[in-house]
Parts: sequence; C-alpha cells; structure tokens
Amino acid sequence: MDIGIDQIGFYTPNKFVDMVDLANARNQDPNKFLIGIGQDRMAVADKTQDAVSMGINATAEYLDQVDLEKLGLLIFATESGIDQSKSASLFVKEALNLPAQIRTFEIKEACFALTASLQVARDYVRAHPHHSAMIIGSDIARYGLSTPGEVTQGAGAISMLIKEDPAIIALEDGHTSHSENINDFWRPNNLATAVVDGHYSRDVYLDFFKSTFKPFLEEKQLAVADFAGICYHLPYTKMGYKAHKIAIEGQDDETVKRLSDNFQLSAKYSRQVGNIYTASLYMSVLSLLENGELEAGDRVGFFSYGSGAMAEFFSGRVVEGYQKRLRPALHARMLRERIRLGIGQYEEIFTEGLQALPENVEFTSDANHGTWYLAGQEGYVRQYKQK
Ligand code: CAA
Repeated sequence: MDIGIDQIGFYTPNKFVDMVDLANARNQDPNKFLIGIGQDRMAVADKTQDAVSMGINATAEYLDQVDLEKLGLLIFATESGIDQSKSASLFVKEALNLPAQIRTFEIKEACFALTASLQVARDYVRAHPHHSAMIIGSDIARYGLSTPGEVTQGAGAISMLIKEDPAIIALEDGHTSHSENINDFWRPNNLATAVVDGHYSRDVYLDFFKSTFKPFLEEKQLAVADFAGICYHLPYTKMGYKAHKIAIEGQDDETVKRLSDNFQLSAKYSRQVGNIYTASLYMSVLSLLENGELEAGDRVGFFSYGSGAMAEFFSGRVVEGYQKRLRPALHARMLRERIRLGIGQYEEIFTEGLQALPENVEFTSDANHGTWYLAGQEGYVRQYKQK
C-alpha cells in the first residue's frame, strides 16, 4: 500500500523585507546576503499572524477537498508555540470545524518536528489504512535586530494531508536517522528570540547530512543518480547548497546538472520567504514540485534537520498527475502581492512581536491572502477570527 502526501497547503504573511534594503541598513555588502547567504527577501509576520493563524490558513487552502469522516489524526509541529500546555492544534481544529473524534497534539524537535509528524502520520495510516492524517508545521523565525542571524529570519506554514494512495508523493520505505545532544540552536522558555551558534550549526548540519545520506544510499542500494532531486531543510539557501555540493561530488555531468537545476528550483520559495523552521524542508519540496518538471515515478530525497540535533534522510516518488493537486498560481500571487516594508516599519513590527500580547485589544488584519488572523487576547486566551 502506498502512503504519502495527498495535499500540500502553504501560507506566508503579506509583508516582507528586501535583503538589499536590510544589507544597506546594516552596512553590509548586499551580495553577502544575496549570494553569501542566498536570500532575496524574508517574510515578516505582524501581530495579526502567529503560528496558529498561519497553520489555519495553510490548511484552509485544501480543506474543502478532505473527507473529514476519514480524518483521524491532526499533529501541529512548531517551535513558535503559543502555550506551554495546550496544543496549537486545538485552535486549528476549532477554527476549521474538524471532527471531535480526531486525536490531536503538538510535537517538538526544532525544525525536525514536521518530519517527526510525517513519520507518525505514516505509521498511523499504516495501522488505519482507510484513515488520513493532517500535519502542520508553522513558525516565525526570530533571531534579533542587527544580529548575524537576522538575515535568516522568515515566517510561514505548510500543511499536508497524509493518506493511502496519495496524489502527490508516495513515501518509500526506509530512512536513516542521526541524533546527538548538542547546543547549536535553541530557545529557552524566557527568551523570545533564538540562541544560535551559527557557524557551529552549519558544520553540524553538514556532518549530520553525511551521517544520514551515504548510509541511506548503502541501506537502500541506491546511487545518487537514482534521484531526480534532493530537497533540504533550508534555514537559508546557502546552507542547503553546501549539502547539495557534498551530494553531487564525483557524479556524472548529467546527474550534477539535474540535481543542481532541481536544487535551485527547490530553493525558489525559500529565497523569497526565509526560514520557516519546521516547514522549511516541505516548502522546498513544494517549490520543486510547483516550479520544476518532475515526471511520475521520479525519486525525491528529503533531508530533514532539527537543531539540538536530529536529522533524517528518506525518499518518495512523485505520483502520476501530481500537478493537478498543486496551486502554483495561487502561491505565486501570494508571494507577488506582499507589502515591502521599510526597515523602520520592520523593526517596529519585530519589536512589537517580542512583547506579551495586550489584554482585550482588538487587532485588525490588512491581509488579502489567508482569511484567518489573530485578533487579540481575552483572559489569556488568543482569539482567532476570519476576515
Ligand atoms: N559577497 C558574496 N559572499 C559573501 C560576501 C560578499 N560580499 N561577504 C560574505 N560572503 C559569504 C561568506 O564567504 C560566507 O560564505 P560561505 O559560508 O560559503 O563561506 C557567507 O557569505 C556568510 O558569511 P559569514 O559566515 O561571515 O556570515 P555571518 O558570520 O554573518 O553568519 C550565519 C552567517 C552563520 C548563517 C548567520 O546568519 C546565522 O547565524 N544564522 C542563523 C543560523 C542558522 O540559520 N543555522 C541553521 C541551522 S538552525 C535551524 O535551522 C533552526 C532549527 O533547527 C530550528
């Protein structure tokens, strides 16, 4: 029985910072950001978008095509959680009127958490073949104004439906994992921005890629040439590019060209949105599917990395007719119609985002894509509304 990705919804807020503007404001050479880091723009979430509202918006994109009677599981992966106790998924469930009988919870292991959700969902569908599972990854990456990590911020969500006979990607059996207790990136409970050792995290990411990719090939008796494309967790596109260079080392020209072209296509959305932590790998997959020309049966590799650290490599095959399930025009419009913030406006929004929510103050949204937004807080309960 094939199990895999049947739907993919994507959401990113309606505001962005241009990297040339940011470089000029920080007295940096723009090429450091555009080429050295590999980012063109970064999405900015104002106070009306949080992990929950973005997750609702990404899911709402395909909800009308879900057989709700068969939905048995909803998992929310995030490192931008809004509560220490209650799962973000319960807000999603209420907003979208999902059935009361589903099992639902939140899951965490930095950027690996959506992959953890995917594997749990796959096992769930294996055990309950006629049921489906919804998994959401949603995050706001905040490192701080004028920090080295500032250029690698972003905001957005991916939501996926996992079921048997999937319409987009059928996952293949097998995976290779690697974990170690290290301190490359983390966010203690009392901090609103991440603590990161950026150069160390880059080195560990590449070490973990080496620890999972080659063993995967050996275990599955596959060659690098057997992949049409490999998608990476992209905290910034240069990071994935470094892993890509390791993958193509010593390969024939045709394989190098195919994997390199498809790497650039997989990085297209990330260059515009920035880091969305848990959903970043899956935004790369969506970017490749919507901007590339994969054929039915083509094998795609997934490299998932979450700081702390946990990594996994696995693969899937593209399903015949997958294009019909995608919404490239909608996503192109969502990215195109965003508002370009001046650096002063961005700094104001960023600073506001670090503060506790005020009680009983109603927020209004200026978004034209994604109708759900955070309208404020009453009695420490976040209020979500639809425009
Ligand atoms: N033109 C072109 N390239 C230039 C340049 C110029 N004028 N100036 C510099 N560069 C290049 C450098 O050569 C360098 O390239 P290489 O890496 O290929 O050598 C690149 O630009 C970056 O330069 P620096 O390393 O000097 O930049 P920096 O010290 O400002 O730090 C960073 C860069 C480490 C990525 C920093 O932005 C950072 O800490 N980011 C956050 C860390 C991060 O995203 N880690 C990823 C894993 S964590 C994660 O994803 C989270 C999770 O699990 C939750």
